[in-house]
Amino acid sequence: MSRATKYLTAAKFVGGVYLARAQIAYWARVRRDLFSRLIYPADRTDPYEIYELMRARGPLLPTRLGNYSTTSHRLSSEVLRSRNFGVSPADGGEDLIHQDLLDLSLLTLNPPDHTRIRRLAAPAFTPRRMTGFRPLVDQAIHRLLDRCEQDREFDLMAAFASPLPIAVMTRLLGLPDDPARFRRLGSTIAQGLDGIWSLKQAKVLSQADAELRDTFADLLSRRAEDPGDDLVSALVQQQGAALNKHELAALVRLLLLAGFETTVNAIGNGMRWLLADREQWELLVADPSRAEAVAEEVLRFDPPVQQTVRVAHADVELGGVTIAKNQWVLPTTGYHLTARFGMSGGLWSSNHTGLDFAAPSGTPIVAVADGTITKTGYDGSYGNKTVETLKDGTEIWYCHQSVFSVQPGDRIRGGHRIGSIGATGNVTGPHLHLEVRPGGGDPVDPYNALVHQGLKP
Ligand code: HEM
Repeated sequence: MSRATKYLTAAKFVGGVYLARAQIAYWARVRRDLFSRLIYPADRTDPYEIYELMRARGPLLPTRLGNYSTTSHRLSSEVLRSRNFGVSPADGGEDLIHQDLLDLSLLTLNPPDHTRIRRLAAPAFTPRRMTGFRPLVDQAIHRLLDRCEQDREFDLMAAFASPLPIAVMTRLLGLPDDPARFRRLGSTIAQGLDGIWSLKQAKVLSQADAELRDTFADLLSRRAEDPGDDLVSALVQQQGAALNKHELAALVRLLLLAGFETTVNAIGNGMRWLLADREQWELLVADPSRAEAVAEEVLRFDPPVQQTVRVAHADVELGGVTIAKNQWVLPTTGYHLTARFGMSGGLWSSNHTGLDFAAPSGTPIVAVADGTITKTGYDGSYGNKTVETLKDGTEIWYCHQSVFSVQPGDRIRGGHRIGSIGATGNVTGPHLHLEVRPGGGDPVDPYNALVHQGLKP
């Protein structure tokens, strides 16, 4: 993807981000929706409080968009181990963490690509290899601690936690010794993984990603010409049939980035708890051989990565609920239902054929499920109308729109923005009139159709 296309993608993406942000803020602040509170940055200072509230409501909570979140260890483990779930939809298409902006290699690949690439990377991370890295890590730790010792006071995060993984990873990968630059790039990209909240952030993120790509392109061509006994040289030798150029570059970038913020925050969290619990601190000081157990316990007790996402590749039973492949989602948020299917009255020439979601003009409308856009245009009393045809031939009509965001021929996923709520056609105020027409025939009650798909409009 060229840089110009990337910026454009970022800008288009961020147009939706501002609206999504306003919606999440509304659900977090006004409606106190737990999942929205968890992902809304301003409310995320203490996630444990929110986890407790979520846990009290049961192991599997539907979110406002119609997918599910779980706080249960058993269910998380079941999902993560099951072959019925993947990190991206089974039939290609958008992944769950903005592949358009960042290529995150293994983190966004399903088998068999994941299996193939993981197999190539695995020999570099055997326990024997890890033990071999120990002198490198020890040396980096001593160098940083010597510097801290010279000052009477030091900031653990800035002087130790943050430079340590950078020193280790850049040396491991043979990158130039420029800690300030890699710290900036690493933290910019890591923050992007937590969500993109403004156009400025998307732009800085794209620039950081481009800078990192150039740095790695340089490194990879040097290693191809002059291989050494290091990790990158070993991976470069796999390039060809087993690993293409882009996959190799993305994998090496991921290896650099994956260890940055994670390790920084594992050290910070660990120190915070040790300082808060004097007894544990003294036990460790009296017997430093407990350090390994302390590190393990910190990762269990207050880990730096606390959430992840998976998508169902088949209809799956989980905690007594069926998680459907291509789970439907609600077409809009912040609405109230006004007219229902089959209602009669002066407004309609015959009985009402859809379900009306009243919301302010400009509120985003998203596709309820995966499908193809088959029509967009003005249609008399329906006003501006988008027709989406699902894989089973069902037509979904989205009517009275102010703006179209898609065009015929676009293949879209459930949750993808297709336009905005408006008041075009025969209306008394802004709303979305939704129709569901199995096989493109007569309409059925959309309320029942949504409930049948596990949603609560
Ligand atoms: C305390 C430090 C770390 C923590 C808490 C951590 C956490 C995680 C988690 C939770 C995942 C799974 C994400 C998912 O599948 O949804 C993951 C994957 C991964 N991590 Fe780490 N990580 C840490 C350090 C590192 C380091 C130092 C590296 C590289 C040198 C690294 C490389 C990776 C890679 C390559 C994956 C993808 C694996 C795959 O999909 O097969 N991580 N990490």
